[in-house]
Amino acid sequence: AQQPIIVQGPMPIEAEKFAERLEDVQEEKSGSFVFYKGTVNDYPVIVAKTGKGMENTAAATAIAIEKYDPAAIINQGTSGGHDPNLHVYDIVLGERTTNIGSLKTGSREDGEGIAPKEWIPMDLMASEGSAGEDPDAENIRYFEADEELLAAAQAVKDVHEKGKVVEGTIGSADVWNNEVDRIQWFHEKYGTSVEEMEGAAGAQIAKAYDVPFLGIRILSNNKVNGGEYDPNTAEANQAYVYEVVKEYITTQ
Ligand code: 5AD
Repeated sequence: AQQPIIVQGPMPIEAEKFAERLEDVQEEKSGSFVFYKGTVNDYPVIVAKTGKGMENTAAATAIAIEKYDPAAIINQGTSGGHDPNLHVYDIVLGERTTNIGSLKTGSREDGEGIAPKEWIPMDLMASEGSAGEDPDAENIRYFEADEELLAAAQAVKDVHEKGKVVEGTIGSADVWNNEVDRIQWFHEKYGTSVEEMEGAAGAQIAKAYDVPFLGIRILSNNKVNGGEYDPNTAEANQAYVYEVVKEYITTQ
């Protein structure tokens, strides 16, 4: 049998529009996660409504891999801009995805305060030893996009007419950053194009099982250049990802 492509979306507005595009849909639930099993051009595609955040995404990814043995996973949805050149409705193809909530603080004694700009990126995958003591863990862990998925996404860039489609770095954490100086710190230190709350969790679990993975994120807001939140971006991203899936199927 053909291995399915899994398309993940956190919120109902980020998953259900894609699910409506599937043929012959059957709905399956596992815990709080909803899987819409169907086809696109007779090829099996499963939309996963994961819920928001890193924990939901990690669990939904592991469950989907164990249950459905997917050929590939696309994690998609909305995001907030870190790059002043990106505007609401622009789409970022996650050449790299990284966890921007994985940090070690500097060493400060009682009464010395807190200094977030001195915090050090922490790579929990660096070794099996203590991340607090291991100098190799003082490192940014980037998860690389699968080349074939990225090529499929690049091949259909032109179908997205409401903004541009660019390659970039997706930063993930269960945090919504509204401090522009903090956003700039991530942009400079990690090279982040956008932030959201799921991609790195999906990427990490996909890598644990060697399943090809790509994050595709539309900007729904950009604090850095005054881009106001627009929830309709979620549907526009699903329309683009649908074209990516069709393109990827032709290569399978
Ligand atoms: N910061 C963090 N998450 C964001 N999301 C959209 N914009 C942002 C932002 N600026 C996405 C997250 C999560 C939900 C809150 O919306 O991925 O699913």
